[in-house]
Amino acid sequence: MAAAESLAKLSIDGDGFPENLRKNLSVLSPQQVELAKMLIEMEQSHLFKQWPEPGVEDDEKRAFFDQIERLNSSYPGGLASYIRTARELLADSKAGKNPFDGFTPSVPSGEVLTFGDDNFVQYEEAGVREARKAAFVLVAGGLGERLGYNGIKVALPSESVAGTCFLQYYIESILALQDASCRLVQGNCPAEIPLVIMTSDDTHSRTVDLLESNAYFGMKPTQVKLLKQEKVACLIDNDAHLALEPNNKYRIQTKPHGHGDVHSLLYSSGLLSKWHDAGLRWVLFFQDTNGLLFKGIPASLGVSATKWYHVNSLAVPRKAKEAIGGITRLTHKDGRTMVINVEYNQLDPLLRATGHPDGDVNSETGYSPFPGNINQLIFELGPYMGELTRTKGSIKEFVNPKYKDSSKTAFKSSTRLECMMQDYPKTLPPSARVGFTAMDTWLAYAPVKNNPEDAAKVPKGNPYHSATSGEMAIYRANSLILRKAGVKVGDPVLDTFNEQEVEVWPRIVWKPRWAITFAEVKSKVRGNNTVTDRSTLAIKGRDIVLEDLSLDGALLVDAVDGAEVKVSGSVRNKGWVVEKVNHKDTSVPEEVRIRGFKFNKIEQLEKSFGEAGKFELKP
Ligand code: UTP
Repeated sequence: MAAAESLAKLSIDGDGFPENLRKNLSVLSPQQVELAKMLIEMEQSHLFKQWPEPGVEDDEKRAFFDQIERLNSSYPGGLASYIRTARELLADSKAGKNPFDGFTPSVPSGEVLTFGDDNFVQYEEAGVREARKAAFVLVAGGLGERLGYNGIKVALPSESVAGTCFLQYYIESILALQDASCRLVQGNCPAEIPLVIMTSDDTHSRTVDLLESNAYFGMKPTQVKLLKQEKVACLIDNDAHLALEPNNKYRIQTKPHGHGDVHSLLYSSGLLSKWHDAGLRWVLFFQDTNGLLFKGIPASLGVSATKWYHVNSLAVPRKAKEAIGGITRLTHKDGRTMVINVEYNQLDPLLRATGHPDGDVNSETGYSPFPGNINQLIFELGPYMGELTRTKGSIKEFVNPKYKDSSKTAFKSSTRLECMMQDYPKTLPPSARVGFTAMDTWLAYAPVKNNPEDAAKVPKGNPYHSATSGEMAIYRANSLILRKAGVKVGDPVLDTFNEQEVEVWPRIVWKPRWAITFAEVKSKVRGNNTVTDRSTLAIKGRDIVLEDLSLDGALLVDAVDGAEVKVSGSVRNKGWVVEKVNHKDTSVPEEVRIRGFKFNKIEQLEKSFGEAGKFELKP
């Protein structure tokens, strides 16, 4: 018997309540009775099928409605609206309806940047100028199932020379931008750039612990605001009947709703109008594990400000069929247009259906003509607030049920609605200015998403997106940036860690306050500097200048603000040797073994300058 039929057979008496719920109404508060009515109206009477007589498990019954109340209040429009949308989307999914039916894709316009040229440097300066009017929003509620790390992802070291975790890197970068922005406008600057972190039940308390046990990594605690997203109800069938947990008849099964929740949370938090009143102009959204992100932020923000983009997506060149979405202009038969991320598995069929028989293929440049979306977004605050006031922060959702068979009548396991933050432009009017800023992948994008086993299975030539590749990408980017600034940096060697072949560049890291833009790097690198391929270099202070340095080994320099240190001369030592670690070796800490290597710190020159003044470090 179909689920809907069996549910219809439940006993419903005259007042609409099934018998065993009606008997229990006296146990509930008036508000809970209202929620019960809503559930019955939404044909959810199966939830009460196993409820015993009043007097038995009454606390559990009230707790059931406490959860219903949370699910109801945390979803824009309430649970009834969730169920109605779910029915529509499940019907579309069953009918195999293409969400892009009637749309024709084309390549949108945007700004393509070349790292280090005059245009790039000008955009960086414009971006730094605007940064004091920005707020940052980190979405960090994801489970990270693909990575399988036991901790929260933002606590993972982004690199292991200085051991800076992702959250520290993000906060220090925001603080560096804040300082740089204020220096540019000289004096007229009360800026404390706000940081919002969206968490979930899976990440919230550990994110708070990480911040508190590290004194917020130097940020004022009042600058940081955590918003916790709630999960949404799971659904058992195409009629959007809510799923109970298998071992608890008083608990609705829930799953994450996706990072699109960030918009409704920001809307309901009241932060947007507070920021607006404080004169802020930009909101920058970013994700939990991209150790290169801030290398592209100043220039992209400059593009937003110069081109008046309401929505600006950071993008990288995309290989055809690569598993990242393409930023696409879609024009409907009825004249509607939007610039939106089209997921890679939808781009190919969409192209084929609209007169491109080869589908998702590279152009003569060797890349897909559609820029690859890396989901770092810059919104102009005013238009964003206007749109959210209209939509109440709700975002177009989708559903992805795994059906038991081709009849699409039953699911393998419960499903739920999901939403993605990059779908925000879907409801914008055609007058909205939606663009992108594209730059090289090596500069801006190296997420840590995959565990070692899955990364090792990635087809050759495609990015691993693992802890190994994420860390090596930081050394490569820093080496290439120093090269562009005139430093002779040794060539990389190829090596394999956790069965992933990567380029190993000299292990160069610097604190964001040393340099947050290319212009800053150039101003702190003078004369003829050389760093050999086996070297490790960590620059931790703001006012450190490299001048005629020849490094072959390991050098770590720290300095307080106001300590101006010139580093020069020849530094030669046995250095730090990269040693392999097997990811199955549980005697090694998890964050080390998932990257597949560690440093054997044989010999280094390490110097710290703790007082203001002028110094020279010349061995
Ligand atoms: P990912 O695609 O990396 O997903 O999310 P995930 O859930 O973290 O990891 P998997 O898929 O289980 O392996 C992209 C970004 O969105 C955040 C993540 O924390 C990450 O920064 N996110 C994802 C949320 O904040 N909430 C969600 O419900 C899902």
